[in-house]
Amino acid sequence: MRYTSDPRPYDFYLSHTDFKPVLSKYLIPTHSILHLGNGTSRLPSFMLNDGFTNQICIDYSPIAVKACQDIWPKLVVKCMDATKITLDDNSIDAIIDKATLDSILCETDAPNAALTTLSEIHRVLKSGGVYIMVSYSDLGGREELLNKCSWEEIKVERVTISTGDSKKDGPFVFICKKCN
Ligand SMILES: C[S@@+](CC[C@H](N)C(=O)[O-])C[C@H]1O[C@@H](n2cnc3c(N)ncnc32)[C@H](O)[C@@H]1O
Repeated sequence: MRYTSDPRPYDFYLSHTDFKPVLSKYLIPTHSILHLGNGTSRLPSFMLNDGFTNQICIDYSPIAVKACQDIWPKLVVKCMDATKITLDDNSIDAIIDKATLDSILCETDAPNAALTTLSEIHRVLKSGGVYIMVSYSDLGGREELLNKCSWEEIKVERVTISTGDSKKDGPFVFICKKCN
């Protein structure tokens, strides 16, 4: 577990700077946001600076949760399993998942855990809410799983990531909109 040896801020896949152009198309600061498996990502703290005051971060690692709380005391961070989200039905405008479903898909009970997670995501999202999932898998690798829930639409965007002076193709961002 990386957080035991290094509890410093760390972002998987992409930085806030590279993610922000996509996020700003779908999110506004009054939205309620759930960060699924936040680890020690800086994303919620940057979003807080951008005016997103209604955010909750969850992770099942108590070490990651404590690290997050120590680094960013203004954030709401809870120890919670994505397969058993203790939030009300239809209560969240947007769920951001950067590398977490990918991580769940590597667990021993992967197919079951991924399906349960997806059904929890769908349950807590408001009608018209969005599940924004970042993965290095393309649609072909995630379509069958995502289609286990009913979405009004699934859009896929590829982000570009900056490395020094150059840019390169980054991960895919899936934007799944819950039916109204
Ligand atoms: C690859 S890391 C991504 C962390 C962060 N989202 C980022 O982009 O830097 C996956 C995170 O998901 C968490 N995680 C994995 N399975 C989980 C589950 N079932 N419930 C809650 N968190 C989980 C891990 O503890 C880890 O912090």
